[in-house]
Amino acid sequence: MKKFLVLGSFILFACIFYQCNPTRKANAFIPVTTYTNNVHTLVMNNCAPCHMPDKGGKKKALDSYTAVKDNLPDIIKRIEMHPGEKGFMPFKRDRLSDSSIAVFKDWQADGMAE
Ligand code: HEC
Repeated sequence: MKKFLVLGSFILFACIFYQCNPTRKANAFIPVTTYTNNVHTLVMNNCAPCHMPDKGGKKKALDSYTAVKDNLPDIIKRIEMHPGEKGFMPFKRDRLSDSSIAVFKDWQADGMAE
C-alpha cells in the first residue's frame, strides 16, 4: 500500500512538473514569430514599392531580413502611430491592423529569428 502511495505521488509530481515546465510550453505550443514565416509578407504587402529598391522604391530599403531587423524599433514606432502624425507609416495609407502590428512586436519579443 505504502509503495503505491509513494509511486502515485511520484507520478503526480512528474505530471505537474511536466505540465508547468515553461521551456516546454514555449517550444511546443507557442510558435515563434520569424521573419520568413510572418514578417516578410507584411513588409512586402504594406511597404512596397516605396521601400523596395527593385520595385523602384527610393526610400530606405526594407527588402531583406537584415534591413528589417536593423530598423525594427523605428518601424514599430512608425506603424504604431496614426495617419496624420509625423512619421506615420505606411505613408499616406491606412494604418495596419492591430494584429499585423502585433506580428512585428511578437517578432521583436521572440528574438527576431530569420
Ligand atoms: C507610399 C510610399 C511608402 C510606403 C508604402 C511606406 N513608406 Fe516608409 N517612408 C516613405 C517616405 C516618403 C519616407 C520619408 C518620410 C518620413 O521619414 O516620414 C519614409 C520613411 C520611412 C522610415 C524612415 C527611414 C529613414 O530613412 O530614416 C521607415 C523606418 C519607414 N518609412 C518604414 C516603413 C514601413 C515599415 C512601411 C510599411 C509598413 C512603410 N514605411 C511604407 C514612404 C513610404
